[in-house]
Amino acid sequence: MSALSTRVQAAINLTNPDIAIRRMTQDDLPQVKAIDQISFNMPWPDSAYHYELNENPLSLLWVAEQKTPTDAGSPPGLPRIVGMIVVWMILDEAHIATIAVHPDYRNQGIARQLLAQALITAIERGANQATLEVRAGNIAAQKLYQRFRFAVVGNRPRYYKDNHEDALIMTVSQFDKTYADGLQSGTWNNGCPNQE
Ligand SMILES: CC(C)(COP(=O)(O)OP(=O)(O)OC[C@H]1O[C@@H](n2cnc3c(N)ncnc32)[C@H](O)[C@@H]1OP(=O)(O)O)[C@@H](O)C(=O)NCCC(=O)NCCS
Repeated sequence: MSALSTRVQAAINLTNPDIAIRRMTQDDLPQVKAIDQISFNMPWPDSAYHYELNENPLSLLWVAEQKTPTDAGSPPGLPRIVGMIVVWMILDEAHIATIAVHPDYRNQGIARQLLAQALITAIERGANQATLEVRAGNIAAQKLYQRFRFAVVGNRPRYYKDNHEDALIMTVSQFDKTYADGLQSGTWNNGCPNQE
């Protein structure tokens, strides 16, 4: 692990010491798909995570793993996976493709930890834009993104096929090393990153 990654991990772990953020592996896929199924009205197709993990060179994937061993909710011998994030690196843009936390583990700062790790890594890899789409009615997710200084810059009317809900397009206006430093320092834990 690089010195920078060590510092990032230290800041992230301040939030919930029983959660480790690490890259997704093949063994994680059944639990990741289960979280996807329980979290979204329109889950990704069954093969999607396998494709993102093994075949899509643009994809970066992390999971949140519970460090304390538990028999509940995970296959024998495997750690409990409680959340995941997928980011597509499209040229200089980091696009948040999906993020979800198991319902039993929400409101503990785990999505914040996942998003911080993903955004810092995207900046380290040269991204200077961050974008995402979110349902107009998904207030919890919008609040999460607002904490990370995402702001609404547009919308796609009737974008979602299940209920014809609008998609809001959100971006971060200043997505750079200063922003990453705010995440690394952990100040995002008490408010928006870099908030004066
Ligand atoms: C959105 C989601 C990922 C948040 O995960 P989480 O681990 O519970 O979020 P965190 O505990 O890290 O919360 C971070 C911030 O998000 C916001 N937030 C999270 N849940 C919220 C809720 N139910 N209502 C309002 N704000 C909420 C808050 O601003 C919170 O900051 P705070 O703790 O200072 O109040 C989770 O609710 C989820 O998996 N939802 C279903 C999937 C989904 O909608 N994904 C987003 C697709 S765009």
